[in-house]
Amino acid sequence: MKIIVTGGAGFIGSNFILYMLEKYDYKIICLDKLTYAGNLENLAGVMNNKNFKFIHGDISDKIFIENLFENEKPDIVINFAAESHVDRSIENPNIFLQTNIIGTNILMDACRKSTVKRFHQVSTDEVYGDLPIDKPDLFFTESTPINPSSPYSASKASADLLVQSYHRTFNFPATISRCSNNYGAFHFPEKLIPLMIINALNNKDLPVYGEGKNIRDWLYVKDHCKAIDLIIHNGKIGEVYNIGGHNEKSNIDVVKIILKYLGKPESLIKFVKDRPGHDLRYAIDPNKISNELGWIQDTNFETGIANTIEWYLKNKSWWQNIINGEYKNYYAKMYNGR
Ligand code: NAD
Ligand code: TYD
Repeated sequence: MKIIVTGGAGFIGSNFILYMLEKYDYKIICLDKLTYAGNLENLAGVMNNKNFKFIHGDISDKIFIENLFENEKPDIVINFAAESHVDRSIENPNIFLQTNIIGTNILMDACRKSTVKRFHQVSTDEVYGDLPIDKPDLFFTESTPINPSSPYSASKASADLLVQSYHRTFNFPATISRCSNNYGAFHFPEKLIPLMIINALNNKDLPVYGEGKNIRDWLYVKDHCKAIDLIIHNGKIGEVYNIGGHNEKSNIDVVKIILKYLGKPESLIKFVKDRPGHDLRYAIDPNKISNELGWIQDTNFETGIANTIEWYLKNKSWWQNIINGEYKNYYAKMYNGR
């Protein structure tokens, strides 16, 4: 079995590659453009693994992708590659359309010309838009209408629609998963949880958007990897699977949990200008993947956040290398005077 994992040098993709190489004797090829979010340090532990190969490239480069698929003849393609940060999509939507939509299209066309038996699109619950905060009994199911709010989620929703159209029109062997917010090792510092851990460790302000009441449904990254593993092996072609483990938390509660764990004062919290179009609440109904594929989460939020904070404590050079580079300019642009 040979699998091409796109975006495998990013947060979830690298966790997935480590998970798969440990569990199976499959050949895994990581294809990654190494944007600001891609980091070969995430894959340092498997670079010499005989079953692993890294290839530097762009999913939206048609000729390159066609040649790669012709040479490698993969059985499965799993598409993690994306521009993934909502705030960046508000600053500059264009690259999101290029990578997330055109890139997905180019991958699928190359699959159709090749030997690929399964294309899996890693999508997000953000394609459903948001839920009200005051109706906790409402959840996203696979039949919730697509209603994205940000350029990021609109680009992911567009890619999903394209994948579904390829399945219907060409009998294209695709599956889609829509997961809630992930957290864990190798999470890029621009995202809420790592940003707050790192700022707290550096005794810097913790910038909470608006009043911090927005709710996210947090899933430990290894539980996401386990779900994708089940879908590529047992998921039904043409189907969408939602992934989430009922770990809803308001942002302010997440931030307070992190501060408490690190023994830092709540006076570090700084409420800043809200994100435009900020989604209120995400919450997944995981019944379909649980009933059909037997998926359950292994790690609840309490354990997962402790593991994650410990990882950031043990891997300071990993995040210090990032925050001392180009990230400084990004941080200044997004947060100075906010
Ligand atoms: P990430 O930003 O950490 O990593 C993205 C990776 O894709 C990087 O390694 C980057 O270099 C690579 N990449 C970007 N553009 C590329 C291109 N044109 N060609 C090849 N590689 C390219 O993202 P992540 O958080 O690991 O998310 C992975 C996937 O999971 C994305 O598709 C995202 O939409 C989806 N997702 C993320 C979450 C989350 O909470 N992070 C939740 C649900 C779904
Ligand atoms: P984020 O990690 O960017 O994920 P997403 O927007 O895809 O859910 O943000 C998670 C939540 O945290 C979201 O409600 C925005 C909020 N947030 C802050 O309050 N401050 C921050 O500095 C960041 C990055 C996010």
